[in-house]
Amino acid sequence: MKRKLFVTTALPYANGSFHIGHIMEYIQADIWVRFQRMQGNEVHFVCADDAHGAPIMLKAEAEGITPQQLVARIGAERKQYLDGFHIGFDNWHSTDSPENTELSQDIYRKLKAAGLIYTKPVEQFYDPVKGMFLADRYIKGECPKCGAKDQYGDACEVCSSVYAPTDLVNPYSTLSGAKPVLKTSEHYFFRLSDARCVEFLREWMGDERLQSQVANKAKEWLDGEGDKALGDWDISRDAPYFGIPIPDAPDKYFYVWLDAPIGYLASFKNYCAKKGIDFAGFLADPNTEQIHFIGKDIIYFHTLFWPAMLKFAGYKVPDNVYVHGFITVSGEKMSKSRGTGISPLRYLEIGMNPEWLRYYIAAKLNSNVEDLDFNPDDFIARVNSDLVGKYINIASRCAGFIGKRFGGRLRAPAPTAELREIQLRAGLVREYYEAREYGKALREVMLAADVANQYVDLQKPWELAKHSTRADYLHEVCSEALNMFRLLTVYLKPVLPALAAEVERFLDIAPMQWADAESFLPANHAIQEYRHLMTRVDEKQLDALFEIPESAPAKERKKVSDTSKAGSQSHSPAISAPSTPHPASPGHQAPTAAAATILIDDFAKIDLRVAKIVKAEQVEGADKLLKLTLDIGSEQRTVFAGIKSAYDPATLEGRLTVMVANLAPRKMKFGLSQGMILAASGEAPGIYLLAPDSGAQPGMKVK
Ligand code: MSP
Ligand code: ZN
Repeated sequence: MKRKLFVTTALPYANGSFHIGHIMEYIQADIWVRFQRMQGNEVHFVCADDAHGAPIMLKAEAEGITPQQLVARIGAERKQYLDGFHIGFDNWHSTDSPENTELSQDIYRKLKAAGLIYTKPVEQFYDPVKGMFLADRYIKGECPKCGAKDQYGDACEVCSSVYAPTDLVNPYSTLSGAKPVLKTSEHYFFRLSDARCVEFLREWMGDERLQSQVANKAKEWLDGEGDKALGDWDISRDAPYFGIPIPDAPDKYFYVWLDAPIGYLASFKNYCAKKGIDFAGFLADPNTEQIHFIGKDIIYFHTLFWPAMLKFAGYKVPDNVYVHGFITVSGEKMSKSRGTGISPLRYLEIGMNPEWLRYYIAAKLNSNVEDLDFNPDDFIARVNSDLVGKYINIASRCAGFIGKRFGGRLRAPAPTAELREIQLRAGLVREYYEAREYGKALREVMLAADVANQYVDLQKPWELAKHSTRADYLHEVCSEALNMFRLLTVYLKPVLPALAAEVERFLDIAPMQWADAESFLPANHAIQEYRHLMTRVDEKQLDALFEIPESAPAKERKKVSDTSKAGSQSHSPAISAPSTPHPASPGHQAPTAAAATILIDDFAKIDLRVAKIVKAEQVEGADKLLKLTLDIGSEQRTVFAGIKSAYDPATLEGRLTVMVANLAPRKMKFGLSQGMILAASGEAPGIYLLAPDSGAQPGMKVK
């Protein structure tokens, strides 16, 4: 029977561009969706921008625009990434939408009617200058244990002790620098600890709908005791807040995590209206399956609040929540300070094939919550030896003969034992895709490609072609091999949709479904001319992906570092409850001001130091750069600075200047640059190095 599937991926925060972690999640879900469509199932695949919350409000404010403008700007960027990586969402919407307002308020009213909403006063830090309550991530102060300065409100990064923001000594607001005051306000709570919720969730989780690792974690949260006991959920925030108003509660808004998952439904509803699908009817159908793909950092929201909210508001509950791990790059977590991470936009801009990445990610994915490492050498090896070397190779060795020698027409397949064997793998490959064991699916496909290659190696069509008496047999061998290639293409189509479309063009056949693996191309079927289907990865492309070219204009440099900054908003936490707000963790992004106004805390992130230029050298082959060795008291740094046009290296040695000491090191063509020195320049030519007044010592902090 045809399945009816409603599939989503997590809604990305609308204050930043996509990073490679988002793209990985979309690729995982997109492969599954394409696979389901090839089975003939009905699938609706949607996503949206997660628009609300304080970080977005503050970032927009810092840029001097409205949050709606910010969301619209980021929203407008999405398409080029999604199209670029062949991610086929049916709809992209926003949580800041009429559908979401309506659905969120409706769900809230129903929860209230079910007796699951109550209010109680909450005392919290308030910024008297900014006129707003401060989430923990906007409060800093001295650690109550060790006295370290500038620690966040939840934990000390120096001595690792954990405390409440009210325990901080000399607390200050990172938004205004003001001393926060304690203020009480009425908050709205969702009674998650209600026996009905707990009972429902226990049943829901016990239904094998979650991966075992995820179910265990969720049950642990559900059954927690003492200070780990399941608490009720604070769902309100006070104005000013960018969010959805709580009905009958002036100046109160839903906390962003309440309306965010409802955005799944809002996007689907918006899509249904456009397509004439009955939204309520589709979800009410007991055969409909609702499936969410998410990363491991947001399990808590998706396995506790979300199903409970839906259940007691009388909506359909999720059938599955499929959780993936995080992508790392060469073993390193994506991090702002180290500047690792791959910019998906740069990947596309330098002309790398998006299907290489889809293939590589798929080859490394399984159904567990495991992190996945992007390793450049491994990437080259898998794409070049498996994808191109094994799969593409079959067509490129046989297609030409059919065109040149046999008028582009195929013979009916014999079929050989090899072709049968490849056909027999369809069942196993299908099971693996269904179970999100893509790595295993692709391993099976590559084993099948080995069978095809062994056949071609053995039959040697290029030898047969030399003897006119063997023409018939040559025709048979090449027809057989192209049938093998066609089956492999069916198996790879969920991962490589654009390539499969090219193959369909070349074979002159209709778009293939999974069931097409049951048959072969008929006798006399005419194919089109073969054009090379996929090139190999060149190592230089990977260098280009990670490097920022010295000659790049300032604008491009900015773009590159901007996207890597977006990528760096995530790190790779273990599965954890969302109880540790921290600006660097996903879901708790501090505002990153891009334009005129920045917050004091943004400035404090830049570690400026007095540096002594102990050595200045020419760099062979570089037009603009000098290589500087800088002494910053505690250590020496190498920095490549674009000041060659203005300074003779000899005159620089011994001078003091100012450097950015905590800039992520950059791999440049000439070596690693470990920071940046400051210089002034204007429209006219001329570069003027900054220098401190006399008396400053190397290593002194500039602030
Ligand atoms: N806005 C929330 C989700 C709301 S869903 C109702 C959010 N946004 S996010 O932009 O921070 O993350 C979106 C998705 O990307 C999440 O599923 C998250 O786990 C995933 N990833 C973020 N960094 C990642 C990696 N490094 N690797 C893989 N996925 C990662 O959370
Ligand atoms: Zn401390």
